[in-house]
Amino acid sequence: MNTGLLNQLYSVAGKTVLITGGGGGIGRMLARTFLDAGARVYITGRKAEGLQAARAALGDPGELRLLAGDLGHADGVRAIVEAFRREEPRLHVLVNNAGRTWGAPFESFPDSAWQNVFEVNVHAPFALAQGLLGSLESAASDEDPARVINIGSVYAETTEVMQAYSYTASKAALHQLTRVMARELAPRRILVNAIAPGLFPSNMTEFVLKNPEHRDATLASIPRGRAGTALDIGGLAIFLASRAGAYVTGAVIPLDGGLLINH
Ligand SMILES: NC(=O)c1ccc[n+]([C@@H]2O[C@H](COP(=O)([O-])OP(=O)(O)OC[C@H]3O[C@@H](n4cnc5c(N)ncnc54)[C@H](OP(=O)(O)O)[C@@H]3O)[C@@H](O)[C@H]2O)c1
Repeated sequence: MNTGLLNQLYSVAGKTVLITGGGGGIGRMLARTFLDAGARVYITGRKAEGLQAARAALGDPGELRLLAGDLGHADGVRAIVEAFRREEPRLHVLVNNAGRTWGAPFESFPDSAWQNVFEVNVHAPFALAQGLLGSLESAASDEDPARVINIGSVYAETTEVMQAYSYTASKAALHQLTRVMARELAPRRILVNAIAPGLFPSNMTEFVLKNPEHRDATLASIPRGRAGTALDIGGLAIFLASRAGAYVTGAVIPLDGGLLINH
């Protein structure tokens, strides 16, 4: 086996990675993967205590750094950008993972669940890439461009969205933003792609996985018959962040065990 080739293709060792919402769920799975692969990882979250708990949960955190801030408004985004830039001259990989959802019947779906969901799910990914543009450009080369990985959702593509009206619309917006940003930023040596997860265990999906009936029905709708794991999402993120993914941009990649096949 040519391990040299595998290293050349998939190494992210020594890269600096910023993962929003890295304290729990999918964000923590990604933080673990990048730390284990030898990257320096910044995770963001709203509360310092939540981030400290994440540090404890990550065990031997290696090159882990914490950045507290709220991505639900422009000042919070700016604070995270400034705090990162005080620490690091370069950013190889920005993972826009933080996300919010809201579910309620059509008649009573609240106005407040539009602005906040769109702020976190659509505006923050754009504003972070905009604010960190110089850091991404500084990390980029022709051979190994900088990367933006947006965490979208298969629920942007199906209408079975459990009354999460603003969420499904925000993720569709994020997928389109991914393509537009990819076109804009490719000449600047920054690649922009999205991963669209299906079902992964997290706070956001606890209500599905804790209810046996709901869980079984959901798993039955997934051709692979199971939820996604840290290795599933970590494997795709490492591909997109490494030399192996250096010719991929503007892609929205479903990571859903085949869930979308039936839609
Ligand atoms: N789990 C799934 O099956 C699934 C499927 C499709 C897509 N996704 C997407 O995957 C991403 C991660 O979600 P998850 O499932 O891992 O859920 P989660 O455990 O609830 O994680 C959401 C993360 O977003 C952060 N966040 C929320 N509002 C924020 C705000 N105003 N400012 C800063 N951070 C904020 C949270 O950080 P703090 O609470 O620490 O502030 C949390 O770490 C989301 O974009 C979600 O839409 C998940």
